[in-house]
Amino acid sequence: MAALVTLSEFIMERQSDFPYASGDLSRLLSDIGIAGKIINHKVNKAGLQDILGAAGKTNVQGETQMKLDVFADDTLLNAMQWGGQVAGAGSEENEKYFAFDHEHCKKAKYVILFDPLDGSSNIDVNVSIGTIFSIFRRKSSIGDMATVNDFLQTGDEQVAAGYIIYGSSTMLVYTTGRGVNGFTLQPSIGEFFLSHPNMRIPEDGSIFSVNEGHINACSPGVQAYVSWCKASDKKTNRPYSARYIGSLVADFHRNLIKGGIYMYPGSSKSPEGKLRIQYECNPLAFIVEQAGGKASHGNGRIMEIKPTDLHQRSPLFIGSLKMVNKVEELIRTLG
Ligand code: AHG
Ligand code: MN
Ligand code: MN
Repeated sequence: MAALVTLSEFIMERQSDFPYASGDLSRLLSDIGIAGKIINHKVNKAGLQDILGAAGKTNVQGETQMKLDVFADDTLLNAMQWGGQVAGAGSEENEKYFAFDHEHCKKAKYVILFDPLDGSSNIDVNVSIGTIFSIFRRKSSIGDMATVNDFLQTGDEQVAAGYIIYGSSTMLVYTTGRGVNGFTLQPSIGEFFLSHPNMRIPEDGSIFSVNEGHINACSPGVQAYVSWCKASDKKTNRPYSARYIGSLVADFHRNLIKGGIYMYPGSSKSPEGKLRIQYECNPLAFIVEQAGGKASHGNGRIMEIKPTDLHQRSPLFIGSLKMVNKVEELIRTLG
């Protein structure tokens, strides 16, 4: 039997990849793992919560019931604040970033951005959801409070990124720029074990994931690509299969393992699409590139965008290298 490696053991082992590492990033990743377990615990009894809670807003213990995305947001913010490894946090759920004023946070080297619960529309219907995070070295001086510029860096400046998927099993997948590794939660003992070492996305795939309901409002290039995915061609294994869960994390995770492309293009109504650069696009872009795939906004790399707003959106085409190349080519020629 191969030796079991826990998330904490793996993080500690990898610390030596960074010769001058002080262990702060390792501690930060461990804190995220713990927050993930707390959120997982709550997500797993999402249906029960309603049954156990009284008709009003309190459950049997008299605790106020919270919406799961608010619970996930609070859990992560608390873990980050008390962990003391970040100077501040930006969250999809909050208009403004938080600059933590505890002395130990002001001395921290990093800031974090996260989508506490991705796939909100699937929370109530027992379909996979997730948490996405992105970590940067701060731009402001150590010892001061975090400032907005800490949260407006390009994806290329990320030092680590990852996600936790609450699915048929719970997994944590992350990168620090040296490949991608996946860990599966063993629920009975509450420990993440290395289950997917050195993840690589197939260079080509046969799954396309897009909300086709909006296709008529998309650009000719995007429409042409979707038609191309559906056209028959034995040599290239078409027609491809359409798979769209509606939770980016879950669609992305499946495509990462099986090969495929996820698209959230701009439309005439929302030219910048729906997904947020800092909470959704950048972290998954870092992971996919580290796994050998590609992430594009249609005309170039996601991670080169310099955001000017905390909640900025971008079209996203992400997944297997050849598939993203093909959609970019059609957008280039047809618009
Ligand atoms: P969130 O729940 O964090 O707001 O994100 C939802 C996102 C993403 O997870 C998903 O792929 C996409 O919205 C689905 O959007 P449509 O319903 O427009 O297809
Ligand atoms: Mn989301
Ligand atoms: Mn969300």
